[in-house]
Amino acid sequence: MDNFELNKIAGAVLGGALAVVAISEIANIAVSPTFPEQNAYAIEVASTGGDSSAAAEVKEEGPSLGALLASADVAKGEKVFKKCSACHTTEEGGANKIGPNLYAVLDRAKASHAGFSYSDAMVSHGGTWTYEDLDAFLKKPKDFINGTKMSFAGLKKADDRADLIAYLRTLGTESTPLPAAE
Ligand code: HEC
Repeated sequence: MDNFELNKIAGAVLGGALAVVAISEIANIAVSPTFPEQNAYAIEVASTGGDSSAAAEVKEEGPSLGALLASADVAKGEKVFKKCSACHTTEEGGANKIGPNLYAVLDRAKASHAGFSYSDAMVSHGGTWTYEDLDAFLKKPKDFINGTKMSFAGLKKADDRADLIAYLRTLGTESTPLPAAE
């Protein structure tokens, strides 16, 4: 090996080392993180379920549930219920299907229908099916009761839910007072 050869090797080693330094410098510059002062998107704090007072605290834009129920259309609600009838019956003493019979479900204790095997999440949720809880549940079942086995995405439109709840009210619970229409 002559001197020239050695020089070439030394040069290669040095060059390599230099390249490594340069690359890590460039990488540092390229990815040097800068953080915006605020979140780029607002994080929506959803009602995590719990009692009905928590659900009622979540103020939504638009008319209140009471106002929507006061002018709800039962016939429309019955039509909306078609989305539910694959899994639920409504007549008194009706069978449980994939979901429990829903006769007189308004004000019924949650997870209390005889002969239906509810999820642990539904059983441990507690309380009765108030107007507010039905509304919150039907909006997004899995948000209201995390772990429910009701596979239903939810009804986004507040007036669809009000019509539907008004229809559910006709199933043996017509006398349940409507919430105040603020
Ligand atoms: C794919 C089947 C399915 C569909 C569609 C469905 N449900 Fe359910 N529903 C269930 C199941 C299953 C449960 C029991 C959930 C649990 O135990 O977690 C349930 C539970 C319920 C409960 C609680 C009843 C109780 O006894 O505590 C209500 C109220 C309810 N559903 C209403 C509705 C309404 C109204 C619709 C239509 C908008 C609907 N469901 C659509 C399957 C369904």
